[in-house]
Amino acid sequence: MSVSEPSDRLLTGARVATMVPGGAPYGLIEDGAVAITDGHVVWVGPATEAPCARRREDLGGRLVTPGLIDCHSHIVFAGDRAREFEMRLEGASYEAIARAGGGILSTVRATRAASEAELLAGALARADALIAEGATLLEIKSGYGLDRDTELRMLRVARRVAAERPVRVRTSFLGAHAVPPEFAGDAEGYLDAIVLPTLEAAAAEGLVDAVDGFCEGIAFSPAQIARLFDRAAALGLPVKLHAEQLSNLGGAALAADHGALSADHLEWLDDTGVEAMAAAGTVSVLLPGAYYTLRETRVPPVAALRAAGVPMAVATDCNPGSSPLASLLIALNMACTLFRLTPEEALAGATWHAARALGLDDCGAIVPGRRADLAIWDVRHPAELAYRIGWNPLAARIFAGETT
Ligand code: NIG
Ligand code: FE
Repeated sequence: MSVSEPSDRLLTGARVATMVPGGAPYGLIEDGAVAITDGHVVWVGPATEAPCARRREDLGGRLVTPGLIDCHSHIVFAGDRAREFEMRLEGASYEAIARAGGGILSTVRATRAASEAELLAGALARADALIAEGATLLEIKSGYGLDRDTELRMLRVARRVAAERPVRVRTSFLGAHAVPPEFAGDAEGYLDAIVLPTLEAAAAEGLVDAVDGFCEGIAFSPAQIARLFDRAAALGLPVKLHAEQLSNLGGAALAADHGALSADHLEWLDDTGVEAMAAAGTVSVLLPGAYYTLRETRVPPVAALRAAGVPMAVATDCNPGSSPLASLLIALNMACTLFRLTPEEALAGATWHAARALGLDDCGAIVPGRRADLAIWDVRHPAELAYRIGWNPLAARIFAGETT
């Protein structure tokens, strides 16, 4: 691409992992440069061909990747579930704890009791941990309110994270996360009285970018999720689904049939689900932090997803119960070690495919025209990002073209 005007800023002496698929592994340019103007990448290529710029910075051989994207998180919540961690170590299962009124419902009690300021403080602490590892875009779900006021409060807090920090946020309405105690045994009643009207209200307030649900024996049936998705479609909102995490209810195929952006978890996904996702272009979001924390024994069918060409994203699922993990780098490591992704697949899962899981094509790769949301790392090779554990090599982060 030719650039007639000098760019605002030129990064040189960089190893650039563009993450554009189809060429060199990681889209790697060894002695590369990236030109930025008005918060966007305007040129990327070999340093020897770099266009002129008003400001040049030599990165001394550091690695540049797209800013990381956490496309599945629940970072707005109150309280903690350390006691349940102990109970699981004593032998109780995640499902048994949930059925006894703990699990998600214990976080619902704490979240309902928390003010907006308290929720924001907790969410910012977790967002800061993700940002410190190079994240520039976070998906944040509601789903610990399960009443109108608290669901709306959670979504407002999620929006405020983007106002308070140099990070982009995409919100997902997850009212269909669990059935609250006041509707115990009456998921249909809860859907009609709370979930659907609250979705309408949240959408009217501009608080919703996508609609999510939890399709599981301890949560909502496929038929109930289908009703939710129909309402989302009527509102013009994309959908996604927690599917096949603890059992196989056919949630992924249902999501794919509704043109879902993604189906997430997928430990119990079968061939029918894989085929439906491939046909619909639905992204699989792999959440190894939940698999690890719950000590699951079934891994998602990575080989089948790969063979069918289903894009694989990787995310933290950061939440107080099944995945108290605020590190995308550890999620990448777990995706490789536990799910056998290659380090390249894992990094693509938190960049290129994560963008697609959020329905975005303006980020997740270093390409002219996309946002200049970048991470600069003190590593030589991109495989190092997934290789180390608890070792943060972030040297700098660029958000909308500015070092932050
Ligand atoms: O993605 N699966 C359902 N929802 C969350 C868990 C939330 C929780 O345990 O608080 C998940 O794993
Ligand atoms: Fe989740």
